[in-house]
Amino acid sequence: MSSKNKTLGEFIIENQTEFRYSTGELSKLINAIRLAAKVVNHEVNKAGLVDILGTAGDTNIQGENQQKLDVLANEKFIQTLKNREIVCGIASEEEDDFISINSQDENHQNKYVVLIDPLDGSSNIDVNVSVGTIFSIYRRITPVGTPVTLDDFLQPGKNQVAAGYIIYGTSTMLVYTTGHGVNGFTLNPAIGTFYLSHPNMQFPEDGKIYSVNEGNYIHFPQGVKDYIKYCQKEEGDRPYTSRYIGSLVSDFHRNMIKGGIYMYPKSSKAQKGKLRLLYECNPMAFLAEQANGLASDGHQRIMEIQPTELHERVPFFCGSKNMVEKAEEFMAKS
Ligand code: AHG
Ligand code: MN
Ligand code: MN
Repeated sequence: MSSKNKTLGEFIIENQTEFRYSTGELSKLINAIRLAAKVVNHEVNKAGLVDILGTAGDTNIQGENQQKLDVLANEKFIQTLKNREIVCGIASEEEDDFISINSQDENHQNKYVVLIDPLDGSSNIDVNVSVGTIFSIYRRITPVGTPVTLDDFLQPGKNQVAAGYIIYGTSTMLVYTTGHGVNGFTLNPAIGTFYLSHPNMQFPEDGKIYSVNEGNYIHFPQGVKDYIKYCQKEEGDRPYTSRYIGSLVSDFHRNMIKGGIYMYPKSSKAQKGKLRLLYECNPMAFLAEQANGLASDGHQRIMEIQPTELHERVPFFCGSKNMVEKAEEFMAKS
């Protein structure tokens, strides 16, 4: 069968044996995410037709305005995962605290916790520009059958068993890894099925695109300023091209296909940058490393960081190997 004819459902079944001691639980969980992706995709595509644009009138725990679609995507994902009784806990960028599932049920044997950024790039919603969803899956570290605790969520990214994103773009794609490379599936909206369209995705080792919010330039550390100047310098294959969508999922997706670096550095205004370690950086770092790229906080590997709180932020440099290494070089110098 050509890869283009293979559905995500078939792919999940075929690859189930990749996990040692697999009981099919992780496969079921990825299936539940596939379903949630379709539900959210349906909602995102209605934006503009029904009253789901604009702010919901509330702020999340990080003081950011919640968009209506943020709230909706959050509800849909949590509901789908809860209905399928497939995880023991969920943490979401849009929730103050983690959610424990079936914690009263002593027979509850689910091993996995899921962390989600239900709607990434929410400032793009009202202007019809690509947005995404990011997910990250860990095995719990506390005993099965007991209520999950914060420790189950505060694991370093290297413990992830799976991670991925959905991009609601010109087409809708689900891209994920279980530690055996990165595969991308495109939704055929007419029949509601994801097909394997991008097998074994890889970052080119070198790239020519840099993605950063240059409006914050004045506030960046000197090493970052120097690297940006390096990207802009007329020399060899430079200057590079600047592309910034303002949705990590979309910027990452483009850079993985074309070769590039995404940066959200710390600044004099935000000492730890903006992106969230657990919901955004760790899953993207896992994908990047599985696709021959790198992810760093400027000095160390993202996936080595021991988180201390759910909504922790971290500076983020991610993409083509040689570009991330070059950016780190500039930061080490200054
Ligand atoms: P979210 O919509 O989940 O809050 O994430 C937005 C993030 C990220 O996706 C994007 O790259 C970045 O914030 C954009 O921030 P700036 O507007 O500060 O550039
Ligand atoms: Mn986000
Ligand atoms: Mn979000």
